[in-house]
Amino acid sequence: MAIREVLRMGDPRLLERSHAVEVFDTPLLHTLIDDMEDTMHALNGAGLAAPQIGVGLRVVIFGGFRSPRYPDAEEIPYTVLVNPVIEPVSGEMEAGWEGCLSVPGMRGLVHRHLRLRYTGFDQYGKPIDRTVSDFHARVVQHECDHLDGILYPMRIRDLRDFGFHDVLFPDEPDSDD
Ligand code: NI
Repeated sequence: MAIREVLRMGDPRLLERSHAVEVFDTPLLHTLIDDMEDTMHALNGAGLAAPQIGVGLRVVIFGGFRSPRYPDAEEIPYTVLVNPVIEPVSGEMEAGWEGCLSVPGMRGLVHRHLRLRYTGFDQYGKPIDRTVSDFHARVVQHECDHLDGILYPMRIRDLRDFGFHDVLFPDEPDSDD
């Protein structure tokens, strides 16, 4: 287990499309997920995608936190999601502020599907099938975007809604992610 370096925006590896995991329950996959978990917790992230630590596999983790960054968010169960597929349940979109460990210190207003179904597998190959909304849905969309080389600033509709966290939200606790 180890805290890994998180790649920052500008690194071309963050723009690549990641590959599906073909074999589950392997030492390689377990080590990857342990490292992702250590890294996410060390940096107080809401989630982390494998490409953010330079591994081009379709693996994301999220939830299970009481992050000072998101004190008002409903609790999301800690989830390991491999080879995810997202399917919006309705056409309804909602704007919300996002940050990313690969874009430290910044926040941007991003429109996301309010409600969606996601399917995939855990690290043992056990199927996951959930229908979720609000912040849970937002986190899943943000993390899965990383697997297709999409960073949240690429989804900001009006770049006036992009800025430094401590300038946009001076009353919130400091955060470098
Ligand atoms: Ni991110």
